[in-house]
Amino acid sequence: MTKDRDENTQEIIRVKDLFKCFWTGKVAHPALNGVNCAIRKGEFVVLAGRSGSGKSTLLSIMGGLELPDKGSVSICGKNVLQGSKDQRALFRLRHLGFIFQAFNLIQVLTARENIAYVCQLQGHSREACFRNADRWLHEVELSELGERRPDQLSGGEQQRVAVARALAMTPEIVLADEPTANLDSNTARNLIALMRRLNQQYGTTFVIASHDPVLIDSADRVIAMEDGRVIVDGEPVEPLPVDLAKICPSKPASLSQRLFPWRNRAENG
Ligand SMILES: Nc1ncnc2c1ncn2[C@@H]1O[C@H](COP(=O)(O)OP(=O)(O)O)[C@@H](O)[C@H]1O
Ligand SMILES: [Mg+2]
Repeated sequence: MTKDRDENTQEIIRVKDLFKCFWTGKVAHPALNGVNCAIRKGEFVVLAGRSGSGKSTLLSIMGGLELPDKGSVSICGKNVLQGSKDQRALFRLRHLGFIFQAFNLIQVLTARENIAYVCQLQGHSREACFRNADRWLHEVELSELGERRPDQLSGGEQQRVAVARALAMTPEIVLADEPTANLDSNTARNLIALMRRLNQQYGTTFVIASHDPVLIDSADRVIAMEDGRVIVDGEPVEPLPVDLAKICPSKPASLSQRLFPWRNRAENG
């Protein structure tokens, strides 16, 4: 096997035995109940599952934004949950990009300034950061709109700025939480195509929490969650797990149809 191939199949994220419970007063809200999974370098992976299944919690622990009660997350062999809050923030800044459902752009900055900001946080010169921001505005086809603030852009345009911001410092990994949830279906399709192109062009690993069937069907691999556990990892093989077999006995065409048959019924009629 060549070195290149070795690198392409290299594990970049390893999640081991994660448990997380949230508390409101004395009431427990278990979010993760023993999650194990691994992501390879350059993969485009979707974390699927109904609302409340634990997708966002898993993503924020993967990104070191939140700490688990138990378990570990390694990125490039380094335990990201160790160290001080500042050390974890620095690790995120250097290695990860984030995309959120609500875009989370800084409202008082222009699109161009939003993209340049991460570069400036890393201590690069203003000139270098704006040159890089211009390159990324071009990459997401927004060169004409760089001087607009987020409230002067459509949802799809704002999310393209967020994609450019996440990728501007070419992080190894982008973590995205429901990135298409606030977009109409055409805009969502374009955004998925953009993320897929950048994934292939730059070899960036994408881990995306979503129940969008189009995203699920465009993934290299789907990790489906239910009640804080992984129930399917990859293409489900026959026989389907008991609960999935019950809801889709006739083996429909796509993985998203198999995972979310109620959604397809709603779309068809
Ligand atoms: N900050 C929080 N406080 C209390 N419960 C929470 C909190 N965050 C998540 N949960 C609970 O944890 C479970 C998993 O939530 P989440 O990870 O947001 O799921 P998903 O992203 O799949 O919708 C849910 O039952 C949710 O109500
Ligand atoms: Mg969520």
